[in-house]
Amino acid sequence: MNSKIAVITGATKGIGRAISEQLWSLGYSLAICARSADDLKEMKQVLAKALPTSIEGNDQPKILTQVCDVSQEAQVRAFAKTIHDNWGRVDLLVNNAGAFTPGKLIEEEDGTLEKLLNTNVMSAYWLTRSLLSDLRASNHALIVNISSIAGLMAYPPGGSYAVSKFALRGLSATLRDELKEEGIKVTTVFPGATWSASWEGVDLPKHRLMLASDVAQSVVGLLALSSQAVVEELLIRPQLGDL
Ligand SMILES: NC(=O)c1ccc[n+]([C@@H]2O[C@H](COP(=O)([O-])OP(=O)(O)OC[C@H]3O[C@@H](n4cnc5c(N)ncnc54)[C@H](OP(=O)(O)O)[C@@H]3O)[C@@H](O)[C@H]2O)c1
Repeated sequence: MNSKIAVITGATKGIGRAISEQLWSLGYSLAICARSADDLKEMKQVLAKALPTSIEGNDQPKILTQVCDVSQEAQVRAFAKTIHDNWGRVDLLVNNAGAFTPGKLIEEEDGTLEKLLNTNVMSAYWLTRSLLSDLRASNHALIVNISSIAGLMAYPPGGSYAVSKFALRGLSATLRDELKEEGIKVTTVFPGATWSASWEGVDLPKHRLMLASDVAQSVVGLLALSSQAVVEELLIRPQLGDL
């Protein structure tokens, strides 16, 4: 595989989709997952039509899609195996898929924390560990974990979501420390409110939230740094502040 290779979870909508589209336009091959097979099919068709014209012959980027619920360890391991068997190298891993269940720790349903930890934290733990040999096969691997402002400060309807996003920050910091000598970078991104499927129907002025492409642009910008520098944490919020 001549092109660089990126793995993005939760890639069919919102921030994950915007990151995938920007990487595709830069010539990255993509391994993407989501739970909906239809959405993956639709996305593959859209990207295939938008193949960068500057890329020719063997350098043509490729797309691997796999249905995968990242809250299920066996499915995450199967996704990693597909990537390993097909490509054997990963230059960029974006642990993006996440779920948000608004509520309060003291009131939410039993099992909420367990569910959100599986989707928002264990998923990144399982996938990163499963792809370690592929990340090591890259000379310049970067792991990006998408946390949230809710992973930095408690806020009213955060509940278990906030706990899970704080935990993801801890996972990132630990991985960063363990992998730095190997030249593998780890960045945690803390986005504020960003228009996406999760905000559909909310009655707010368009300019009040960030665009998914804003977050994607910030992630893609990380790839421009020399091997000597890492952005450990990236905080990006709406110009007018949190909601
Ligand atoms: N939007 C915001 O305001 C905001 C702010 C801070 C942080 N974030 C974080 O940014 C990330 C992306 O959020 P978003 O708002 O862009 O999401 P979104 O628009 O709701 O899209 C979520 C994407 O992830 C997939 N997905 C959801 N659950 C999944 C699962 N269990 N397994 C695999 N794929 C799954 C969805 O596809 P399927 O439904 O087909 O699985 C979809 O492709 C999340 O980690 C979120 O916590 C978002």
